[in-house]
Amino acid sequence: MKAIKKIGVLTSGGDAPGMNACIRAVVRTGIYLGKEVVGIKQGYQGMVDRKFVNMDSHSVCNIIQLGGTILKTARCDEFRTYEGRQKAYKNLKKEGIDALVAIGGDGTFTGAELLSREFDIPVICVPGTIDNDLYGSDFTLGYDTANNTVIEAIDKIRDTAASHDRLFFIEVMGRDSGCIALWAGTAGGAEAILLPEKDTGIEDLIQKLEKGADSNKSSSIVIIAEGDKNGGAYHVAKLVKEKFQFYDIKVTILGHLQRGGSPTSFDRVLASRLGYAAVKALEAGETRKMVGIRGNRVKLTDLVESINNNSFKLEEDLMEMSTILTI
Ligand code: F6P
Repeated sequence: MKAIKKIGVLTSGGDAPGMNACIRAVVRTGIYLGKEVVGIKQGYQGMVDRKFVNMDSHSVCNIIQLGGTILKTARCDEFRTYEGRQKAYKNLKKEGIDALVAIGGDGTFTGAELLSREFDIPVICVPGTIDNDLYGSDFTLGYDTANNTVIEAIDKIRDTAASHDRLFFIEVMGRDSGCIALWAGTAGGAEAILLPEKDTGIEDLIQKLEKGADSNKSSSIVIIAEGDKNGGAYHVAKLVKEKFQFYDIKVTILGHLQRGGSPTSFDRVLASRLGYAAVKALEAGETRKMVGIRGNRVKLTDLVESINNNSFKLEEDLMEMSTILTI
């Protein structure tokens, strides 16, 4: 096994609060272990375009509290091709980068796995996405912060919903994942939660709302994940309005504000633990693994295993509980 001298770190795919805290941990752990660390700007795009920046301990000062990613991020079509990855690898070689830490979601993992296998460069990935949809980690970077952003919004909307006796449909992020909807919906006491993973038809929703109206609820909050199969918050609101003429219905799409903001203490600590563990794993000779947290312990999972099992296992108990608690 060749000793690693220079580690490249990148963030790729959708940004997530905690990515900066993770970059900080990778840079400082690398330096502590006597390595050089290079930041790769704009994810795989920067690898293809040779956008490298030397990182020292000082370059990651005062970033632990920042949302977004100082290295920037991008989605790179060229990297999806073999030729693109070959170009990227040649650039890494020229720069003397002999190992990588890639922070991102399943697309990032897929790219990292291919590059590592095709060109024999060690790679460790860190799960960074607000969607919390990566197999092998109980939590991903940014998920906790996004949930807190969403419940703050739900609480505020509830104030006005209750004052006007209105029914609100709040759409949250999650193209393929209902994690934010389920968690924040539970924490926000939503009357109903619609997720991509569960086929909750409009009839079910209407029944729930009827029950609420029968038990004298004058206002309600329904949380809808953007990937829900019923067609988004506006469409669902329209269908419900046809049945409930008397309800004053409003729709709020929370959108990209869920991706920003200062990371919570949970995300900062998680990011630090996983960034630290990623560099330690490289140093120990590991490759093509994801560092994740399971049962409050840092664990490694094969990238292929993580990629192939990436469908979110819906926490049925949480779903059932949140329904019961809103009767
Ligand atoms: O970060 C994950 C995610 O927020 C998804 O829930 C959402 O569908 C997607 O990213 C949107 O990404 P972008 O704004 O980069 O197109």
